[in-house]
Amino acid sequence: MHDPIEAFNKHWRLALERSPLKQKSAVCVSTIGRNGFPNSRFVDLKEADERGLVFCTYLNSAKGQDLSENARAGLTVWWDHIGIQARFQGNCEQISDEEANEHWKSRSRDAQLTTSTFCQSEPLADPSSLYATLEGARQQHAGKEVERPQTWGGFRLVPVFVELLEFREDRLHIRTCYSLEGEEWTVGFLQP
Ligand SMILES: Cc1cc2nc3c(=O)[nH]c(=O)nc-3n(C[C@H](O)[C@H](O)[C@H](O)COP(=O)(O)O)c2cc1C
Repeated sequence: MHDPIEAFNKHWRLALERSPLKQKSAVCVSTIGRNGFPNSRFVDLKEADERGLVFCTYLNSAKGQDLSENARAGLTVWWDHIGIQARFQGNCEQISDEEANEHWKSRSRDAQLTTSTFCQSEPLADPSSLYATLEGARQQHAGKEVERPQTWGGFRLVPVFVELLEFREDRLHIRTCYSLEGEEWTVGFLQP
C-alpha cells in the first residue's frame, strides 16, 4: 500500500475493534521545547485522513506553546493487541474554528466545563481544589451552554515521514517507511 494514511487507518480500525483499553485512541505526541528537549505526552487521536492527523487541546498549553515556536512534531502509537507500532513526523497546523467547534460539541459537558475552567499546563497550588472548582463551574453554567474557549482547539499533524512496524515475536519486525518526496510517498523498508 503506497498511502501511509490509508495503511494506518486500516490498522487503526482493527485496533479500535479489538481494543481492550478504555482510552482506545491514545497516541503519544512529541513536541520540541524551547530548551531543545522533546516533550512527549498522550492525547486522543480524533481523525486521520489525507490532510493529516488531528488532536485537540488547549492552544496555550505547553504543547501549544512549543508548536507555536516550532511546528515540527512526532506522533507515536503502539497497539499491543494487534502488534502494530506507528510513527509519524510532520508539521502541525491549527485546525479551523469550524472544526474545533465540531470537536467541542462531541465533548461531554464535564469535559467542556473542565476545559473552560482550567488553564492547562499552568501551576496548580492544590490538587484537592479541583473538584470544588469544577462544582463551582457546574453551578455557574447551570442551564447554559458551555462555550468553547478561544484557547481550546486542535492541531493537525501533516506528515512528511511515516513508519509502520509489524511486530514479530522473533524480532524480525517488518518496518515499512514512507517519505514524502514532493507530493508522492516513497516507500521503503528498514532492518528490524
Ligand atoms: C489517555 C490520555 C489521553 C489524553 N488526551 C488528551 C487530549 O486529547 N488532549 C489534551 O490536551 N490532553 C490529553 N491528555 C493529557 C495530556 O497527556 C497532557 O497531560 C496535557 O495535554 C498537558 O500536556 P502539556 O502540558 O505538555 O501541554 C491525555 C492524557 C492521557 C493519559
